[in-house]
Amino acid sequence: MNPNRKPIIAGNWKMYKTAAEAVALVNALKAEVAGIETVETVVCPPFTALAVVQPALAGSNVQLAAQNVHWEKEGAFTGEVSAPMLKELGVRYAVIGHSERRQFFGETDAGVNKRAKAALANGLRPIVCVGETLKEREANRTEQVIKTQITGGLAGLSKNEMLETVIAYEPVWAIGTGKTASPQQAQDVHAFIRKLIASLFDADTGARVRIQYGGSVKPDNAKELLGQPDIDGALVGGASLKADGFAAIVKAGVQA
Ligand code: PGA
Repeated sequence: MNPNRKPIIAGNWKMYKTAAEAVALVNALKAEVAGIETVETVVCPPFTALAVVQPALAGSNVQLAAQNVHWEKEGAFTGEVSAPMLKELGVRYAVIGHSERRQFFGETDAGVNKRAKAALANGLRPIVCVGETLKEREANRTEQVIKTQITGGLAGLSKNEMLETVIAYEPVWAIGTGKTASPQQAQDVHAFIRKLIASLFDADTGARVRIQYGGSVKPDNAKELLGQPDIDGALVGGASLKADGFAAIVKAGVQA
């Protein structure tokens, strides 16, 4: 981590928690992280819980994110949700291009790009996910894959839009598997991404953009990961579903 970049710890709840369960979780969480200002804490509940979680979070230091966002403001797009709809609910961030969306729902870099631009145009901050599969890592294609995802997913963003955007590096082989990238493996890719952003935008943007790590982050490995110079936070799946465990990761961010 670097003092010029505020760490961001986001809990991606995926398809877990009914609305009532979500409210119970954020009520417990906001008490656990009350007063923490040096780390940004974010939760990403399912769409169905956003409207009830927002008032539960009012006045707390926990921000709200959606797990996806469509590029049109409205229309015949069954099953999709637009940026203005999310904005109205007090949503601040939107996860875009998660590997599960890419893997199970056919999302592409071009779609990620349209979603990110729509989010930005409507005052939402994208959390754009990138990451290689095990096969790609073993074939030494990690950097090439990340480069394609980033150049495609972030094409045409202005410098200011890039600085509003968070990149989440999530090696697919580390998601939900219990296999975390080693701090060094993660740091190496984060440094590569930062250099890439510097070359696509400028050195200042590269130095300021926030890059989260995701993939089996837990209370017991968070501090070491977050202590790496180019890791500015975490996107946490499984371990974000319990208030105490997720709060422990946020606190590891405070210490790192
Ligand atoms: P995990 O998920 O922490 O359960 O590995 C991370 C993610 O998919 O964002």
